[in-house]
Amino acid sequence: MKAGSNTRLYMNEVAPRDGFQMEPHFISTDDKVALIDQLSALGYAKIEVTSFTSPSAIPALRDAEEVMGRIVRRAGIVYTALVPNRRGAERALGCGTDEFNIVMSASETHNVSNLRMTREQSFKQLAEVIDRAQRASVPVNVSLSCAFGCPMEGEVEQAVVMAWIDRFAALGVAGATLCDTTGMAYPNQVQSLCETILARHPKLAFTAHFHNTRSMGLINCVAAVEAGIRRLDVSLGGIGGCPYAPGATGNVATEDVVHMLQCMGYDTGMDFAGLISAAAQIEALVCHELPSQLPRAGDRLTHHEPPADFIEIKARALARDATGTIA
Ligand code: COA
Ligand code: ZN
Repeated sequence: MKAGSNTRLYMNEVAPRDGFQMEPHFISTDDKVALIDQLSALGYAKIEVTSFTSPSAIPALRDAEEVMGRIVRRAGIVYTALVPNRRGAERALGCGTDEFNIVMSASETHNVSNLRMTREQSFKQLAEVIDRAQRASVPVNVSLSCAFGCPMEGEVEQAVVMAWIDRFAALGVAGATLCDTTGMAYPNQVQSLCETILARHPKLAFTAHFHNTRSMGLINCVAAVEAGIRRLDVSLGGIGGCPYAPGATGNVATEDVVHMLQCMGYDTGMDFAGLISAAAQIEALVCHELPSQLPRAGDRLTHHEPPADFIEIKARALARDATGTIA
């Protein structure tokens, strides 16, 4: 494992979208807006604000226009949103979304379950969405779900992922996100796909998106970064998951990923203390304990006092040295 050598990495916060879409209890529009405004001060490159999906498919984000319209934009941050179809694109354009994060799955079964379309039907609509975005000068990122495996199909071959990325690249997307929707990715698979795809599309901005379903999320982030990925999707508190992917659980937690990468010597540009207080805010909103570790453990140099009788214990240990017997 290599030292980070101050390499700049870019964090994209997805809790307001990937996180909240899975929460059973509706988070109020005021609370969403206040949280995103708080996040805007913490050093993110991008914040995924919401999704312009069908409110019957994702009721938790039915207030998408209002949230996107009310947040305070900070210069330098891209305020993106998930767009699954033409209707979503019109809604996103109507409230000044900075970027379309269009979505489809590398797996046919997951695409039909999640988006009610075959992959070819999705691609056809998304090609029109890209054209619409280009006419409005809005950049497009494509998030490819199940890029490391599908909970209903099993393995998803690298060649399948490459072929979809090739087709989107040909339409002029600015970036692509490799999504491990249900935590099926493992480190050498991540390394292989990331290296291959970066070599093939050196001009595309690639992002890696991991879920920690099988506790491989953090090591997969390291594998991706060592393969040359510079952008990571992260979710504060580790909340998240796709309601249409069986067994989905939370994304890698922003605070855990940032802490690890900063220990390793990477420059994430993030305010760690600010993340811990924003995570507490999220815990209060979702009304359950967060899966992330750092809010409970503190950073690795968090100081703990030794036991109250430490001086006595140590004196006894030293006396043992002098007498050769236990006092
Ligand atoms: N925003 C709001 N409403 C939308 C919409 C959008 N982007 N797309 C479709 N609708 C509405 C239609 O107007 C229609 O409404 P009606 O019943 O009142 O007439 C209804 O949804 C069904 O439309 P249809 O085109 O038949 O969509 P569908 O039922 O086949 O669903 C999607 C397709 C893509 C809209 C839906 O599956 C979806 O939003 N999925 C998102 C899943 C997701 O976000 N997963 C997690 C992230 S990976
Ligand atoms: Zn996800």
